[in-house]
Amino acid sequence: MNRRLDAVLDARPHDGERERPARLVEAMRHAALGGGKRLRPLLMIETARAFGRSDHGVLTAAAALECVHCYSLVHDDLPAMDDDDMRRGRPTVHKTFDEATAILAGDALLTIAFDLIADEEVHADAGKRLALSRDLARAAGLGGMAGGQMLDLESENRARSEDEIRTLQSMKTGALIRYATRAGASLADARPDDVARMTRFGELIGLGFQLADDLLDVEGDSVTLGKTAGKDIAAGKATLVALKGVDWTRNALKELVSEADSLLSPLGEKGARLSAVAHFVAERRA
Ligand code: IPE
Ligand code: IPE
Ligand code: MG
Ligand code: MG
Ligand code: MG
Repeated sequence: MNRRLDAVLDARPHDGERERPARLVEAMRHAALGGGKRLRPLLMIETARAFGRSDHGVLTAAAALECVHCYSLVHDDLPAMDDDDMRRGRPTVHKTFDEATAILAGDALLTIAFDLIADEEVHADAGKRLALSRDLARAAGLGGMAGGQMLDLESENRARSEDEIRTLQSMKTGALIRYATRAGASLADARPDDVARMTRFGELIGLGFQLADDLLDVEGDSVTLGKTAGKDIAAGKATLVALKGVDWTRNALKELVSEADSLLSPLGEKGARLSAVAHFVAERRA
């Protein structure tokens, strides 16, 4: 993934581009290279592999998704949003560069994702690429990640029910993770019922992943996390940890992940790597 992103974010203009401003390239590289668990690419690549496809085109689609994710982090950290100074163990993009550059780096990371997903190597069938592109737009946008970020900000210091928090989380974090497994199955031309099952798997992993992130914000330390711990309570974020407590959340996380794991049983041995990812999501400490 690092090699692929390194090549995507090079200084040389690609066909149809005039030039790539050095400062913007540097800011995008700061955001996309040098850290990150690469969970979403991993899920996409391993889902595609479980259904029999592993080639460079899958890596390209996974890079597209990681670019959307990295953009979301750059904007999430901006002073107008979560106002964070640290990300992946380094100063955030707006701290290293400036706010305007961070906004533009986010814009350009989001748009380059659609350049990548349109690449012919992603899938020979143009109709399939179109569907992958529309799904990505919906996962990233108004009714997905960006919409979820709106709900997250609107919920600061406001009472929110469990259902409202689950909706917010399924959008701000869940939508991109759901896309990872759904697109992975689809890239490998899995049968519709398998695509539906892997979509559900991604939804459960997505919810579990944000529960773990919220737990780590309470229980983790900034050095291990690579980002400032303890910010959610300070900012009055609506999380299930805040509403229900740590023990309840840890339990809910275990249940989500074991349900996700059980969706893999039809895959047999081929599901082993995805099962390991599911367990990582529940047990991670960073
Ligand atoms: C952080 O995502 C933001 C959330 C959606 C919780 P990750 O924990 O996947 O961040 P990186 O990519 O590993 O830095
Ligand atoms: C992030 O949620 C969701 C995104 C779309 C980036 P958080 O705000 O909890 O993520 P961190 O804790 O800053 O990584
Ligand atoms: Mg946030
Ligand atoms: Mg944040
Ligand atoms: Mg968080």
